[in-house]
Amino acid sequence: MKAHILFVCLGNICRSPMAEAVMRHQVEQAHLADRIEVDSAGTGDWHLGHPPHEGTRKLLDQHQISHQGMKARLVAESDFESFDYIVCLDTKNLRDVRELLEKAGIEESGAKLFTFMELLPDRGIADVPDPYYDGNFPFVFELVDSGCKELLKRIQADMKFV
Ligand code: 4NP
Repeated sequence: MKAHILFVCLGNICRSPMAEAVMRHQVEQAHLADRIEVDSAGTGDWHLGHPPHEGTRKLLDQHQISHQGMKARLVAESDFESFDYIVCLDTKNLRDVRELLEKAGIEESGAKLFTFMELLPDRGIADVPDPYYDGNFPFVFELVDSGCKELLKRIQADMKFV
């Protein structure tokens, strides 16, 4: 059995592609690439087809994490069937995804749907702040890196391959 993870933010150019790239990197380091697949998407359509924001690319480059070929896309109805974990970078993204589920008439998605900061309850913040507005990409990287480690542990426990 394979686990499929989808990270969701607003533009799919700053936070969720960073989470996608970091998570894929951690999965590869853990030799679990054949068990866990990672993707990301946005709820807004301004940047469709664009690569990650240069602030995200810079942080990933600094940590030698690949972002090759990544392109922004919108969350799709089919994602609710394809993914086991849908992790929203902030609470507004979570509300928007729930609204999409409602509009699609999907009452029971098999996916576990939650916010990224639920992985880091000790931080006491609800949302991964949007660096598109404040430029603080290093802080987002630190949160994303820590949260992805927790997510990996959670998935390993769910899949019982630890
Ligand atoms: P993201 O950041 O949701 O982390 O990708 C944003 C990117 C673009 C915009 C807003 C947030 N925008 O308004 O274009």
